[in-house]
Amino acid sequence: MGKGALQATLDRSLRDPAGFWGEVAEAVYWYKKWQKVLDDSRPPFYRWFVGGELNTCYNALDLHIENGRGDQPALIYDSPVTTSIKTFTYRELRDMVATLAGALSSLGVGKGDRVIIYMPMVPEAAVAMLACSRLGAVHSVVFGGFASNELATRIDDAKPKVVVSASCGLEGKRIIPYKPLLDEAIRIASHKPKKCVILQRPMERAELVAGLDCDWDEVMEAAKPHDCVPVAGTDPLYILYTSGTTGQPKGVVRDNGGHAVALKWTMKHVYGVDPGDVFWAASDVGWVVGHSYIVYGPLFHGNTTVLYEGKPVGTPDAGAFWRVIAQHKVKAMFTAPTAFRAIKKDDPSGALIGNYDLSGFKALFLAGERCDPDTLHWAERHLRVPVIDHWWQTETGWPICANCLGIEQLPVKPGSPTKPVPGMDVRVVDLQNREAKRGDIGALVIKLPLPPGTFPTLWNADERFVDSYLSQFPGYYKTADAGYMDEDGYVYVMSRTDDIINVAGHRLSTGAMEEVLASHPDVAECAVVGVYDELKGQIPLGFLVLKRGIDRDPGEIVQEVVQMVRQRIGPVAAFRTAVVVPGLPKTRSGKILRGTMQKIADGVDYKIPATIDDSTALTEVAGALSQVGYAKKHE
Ligand code: COA
Ligand code: AMP
Repeated sequence: MGKGALQATLDRSLRDPAGFWGEVAEAVYWYKKWQKVLDDSRPPFYRWFVGGELNTCYNALDLHIENGRGDQPALIYDSPVTTSIKTFTYRELRDMVATLAGALSSLGVGKGDRVIIYMPMVPEAAVAMLACSRLGAVHSVVFGGFASNELATRIDDAKPKVVVSASCGLEGKRIIPYKPLLDEAIRIASHKPKKCVILQRPMERAELVAGLDCDWDEVMEAAKPHDCVPVAGTDPLYILYTSGTTGQPKGVVRDNGGHAVALKWTMKHVYGVDPGDVFWAASDVGWVVGHSYIVYGPLFHGNTTVLYEGKPVGTPDAGAFWRVIAQHKVKAMFTAPTAFRAIKKDDPSGALIGNYDLSGFKALFLAGERCDPDTLHWAERHLRVPVIDHWWQTETGWPICANCLGIEQLPVKPGSPTKPVPGMDVRVVDLQNREAKRGDIGALVIKLPLPPGTFPTLWNADERFVDSYLSQFPGYYKTADAGYMDEDGYVYVMSRTDDIINVAGHRLSTGAMEEVLASHPDVAECAVVGVYDELKGQIPLGFLVLKRGIDRDPGEIVQEVVQMVRQRIGPVAAFRTAVVVPGLPKTRSGKILRGTMQKIADGVDYKIPATIDDSTALTEVAGALSQVGYAKKHE
């Protein structure tokens, strides 16, 4: 039997990356063609499309208008929480973006300057991202569910000239004022932005700080449209901070050239959509999914993208997704399995699906966490379209493994995100960096160079980039996921090898939470582990050892640390439970047995490690956990 189309494309992309991506790059508009597709003269640092010049915003908007798509919807804002739907054509979106670019330019933002965007899911968030890219400025979007402290950390690292924000966000029926969080972040941060542009939403207007804050409407009114500024293909487009193993997040850098090339290509080859089709990623612009597949990818490809300000359930019910798909004729959708678990919980028989015409819907893509077979089968059964689990990370910017609908649709194996996407040379290695046998679990790594559109480095942190990702397995990028490849080359992603947990598809660091708990004056020692949660996949659970002599009510201390995590990291951490224990179980060399504690909490079988220092601590942990409803066996 001949090689399938996927294998042939993958082989070609790995045998001749420069040839492969050089051809793909012809689909992007360049002011100046690159001199070199791949510069590999300085490993482990690789650069794509060196010498080329382009503009990301031009490729996302202006190009399509010139090609006759000016009147096609570019973005549909669908907001059940404000009961509004608004469509922007490519021309309308370009005009708004050009005007905001003019406004930002008049506030002093130019090529290479950073702009932080801290916004809810409103179209102005996408407009702000595109306006920065029009100017060659570098945006850094911060997810709205992060608290002031996290925002301040990002302000200090990115050193933005301007912050673009809004008066409030809406979480279901609740109004979340954003402006006080921003004010507090600026107060804490050492770096002070010169200006803030604030979008006043009617449901909660913010108090503006004289001399610092500008009203979005006023700056737009006064601004003249700004044209696209050519930038080098290797210039940064954005920084997206993601959880590292400490409280200091990692600033993943995306460059302009490789990003445009790779994302445009994935729209057809991975997601199987054509220009003009409606594509919907039900995520948030604050996450990588939002960057790649709410904003840039669909617009590069001439799609109509949906920006949804709502939840899968409760806005108003578990039929919300089906309503959006039917109403806007969505062809392909992307979300996290947790959203489907939420829908399944509210509408187990999928009865609400029958109320909508989903005949134009062709594929569902899931990512962000391991897709449990139950959820996969439920979605397949009720939607009757391919349900594609695909694996990727903030760092890679686009899928590492997927069932590439636009190349060759392969049979689904539940629990596997299928096979490596062309460009991704995925291997499984053991701790000695030797390739593992098929079926054996090891570290999932990608052979260097990573393809275009991934990340050339971390913002101002080349050394951390090498230390975190490239040094443990020389020659490879460490994904920090563990898993295996089966006989057919399907990849299985089992778990993280570091302290990252996925809570409702949101990436969080338990190490960062431990830093917060440890700063409580009564806490001597602590640990945070991710435990099983039916809806969110995982949730964090804290263990506290109190300082000697503290005789306060432990419940009060727990409440205080819960509040501290909410205040310092944000509500998105979903940190609600902690237990006070006399001591933490450790190995004789002093390593906390987090893995064993997690197993006890999850009620799964565990072995007492031979290296344990004192096993009574384990018994005490089990006792404390059962008092708060953990350590029980579940289905
Ligand atoms: N701004 C402010 N607060 C936010 C926020 C935002 N953008 N996003 C979430 N939060 C808050 C929530 O309101 C909640 O606050 P609470 O503790 O006061 O209730 C907290 O952060 C935790 O949020 P979350 O974990 O999302 O829980 P939820 O109960 O609100 O919703 C789901 C659960 C499953 C419905 C929701 O997480 C979801 O739709 N997830 C799937 C899609 C997704 O976003 N995936 C990301 C990558 S693809
Ligand atoms: P993020 O950077 O937020 O996109 O999170 C990336 C992490 O989410 C990965 O390293 C995995 O641990 C997890 N992840 C994402 N997609 C999948 C998937 N399809 N299957 C299993 N884990 C996934």
